[in-house]
Amino acid sequence: MSRIIVTGAAGFIGSHTTDRLLAEGHDVLSIDNLRTGHRHNLEEALKSPKCRLQIADVAEEGVLDGLVKEFQPDAIIHLAALVSVQESIDDPDLNLRLNYIATQRVTTAMEANGVSRVVFASSAAIYGDTTDLPISEDAPKMPISPYGEAKWNSEEWLHARAAQSGFVVRCHRYFNVFGPRQDPASPYSGVISIFDRCYLDGKPVTIFGDGQQTRDFISVHDVARANVIAAMRPDIKSGSANVCTGNATSLLDIVNVFASYYPQVAAPSFAEGREGDIIHSLGCPDRVREQLGFVAEVPVADGLGELIRAG
Ligand code: UD1
Repeated sequence: MSRIIVTGAAGFIGSHTTDRLLAEGHDVLSIDNLRTGHRHNLEEALKSPKCRLQIADVAEEGVLDGLVKEFQPDAIIHLAALVSVQESIDDPDLNLRLNYIATQRVTTAMEANGVSRVVFASSAAIYGDTTDLPISEDAPKMPISPYGEAKWNSEEWLHARAAQSGFVVRCHRYFNVFGPRQDPASPYSGVISIFDRCYLDGKPVTIFGDGQQTRDFISVHDVARANVIAAMRPDIKSGSANVCTGNATSLLDIVNVFASYYPQVAAPSFAEGREGDIIHSLGCPDRVREQLGFVAEVPVADGLGELIRAG
């Protein structure tokens, strides 16, 4: 059994990662400032005596250091972030604090307390608008948002500190993650969470463009599993890898699955494509398979079915 700190544990990916760690019998210190995370995401987790929630801002100097000293984790899974690309454009200073300075706080706390492993939530956003698909990890890093920039800078920081200090770092470049507990609050939330909310409310969805755009949608259950593998397996060395399926799914495919569950909801309406929208995004899953032995297992239609049945 290991002791693991999860930052951003009350968020979408964080809460599923916490659930998975607990299911495997580990002790978890969940940290979240509840800025965009929700306590109810950890409702089940907090029933376990092996899980504790600490409400704290990991970007604040010394906060994580104190918690690490007290809990003495074997690894940190650092998922706390400003998650909205749009918000990073609207408030670049906040993005810098939450998506970059917080990463520095993590390494400072690790170095002061001898923590040997960290898993970091990076993003496909570090690649920018590349059209060379599937995207391999060696593709140029040309982020087009403060969010993508901070994720890329964090990766570089983590690898530089790891080389100095000897800890192991795994950077997970998530593609389009979907599943229960994803917040549909903003028009810029993940499309599947928005569609889910619309269908649940009996309202037709809006498709920007012709619906033939594709994404590499990966279930949050697969993502949580990748996080736990990277945190737990001592044979895994430092590196950065895509966390993706390698499968392209169009918005029309997604809508067809929803429509099969909600035949009474009116057909989608179509609006002009969003400015700056990319048409296709697809990750190459080879490296994560080689380095972690991880292969995504949840087919998109099954993941959507679970989401829809959860209501
Ligand atoms: C992701 C980011 C976005 C960022 C972009 C480029 C998230 C949730 N989105 O977008 O902020 O600008 O990478 O780095 O992290 N769509 C609809 N109807 C809707 C909502 C979305 O048709 O109601 C479309 C979008 O126009 C897009 C597709 O669905 O074509 C997927 O959208 P989204 O889930 O935002 O993902 P990305 O486009 O990959």
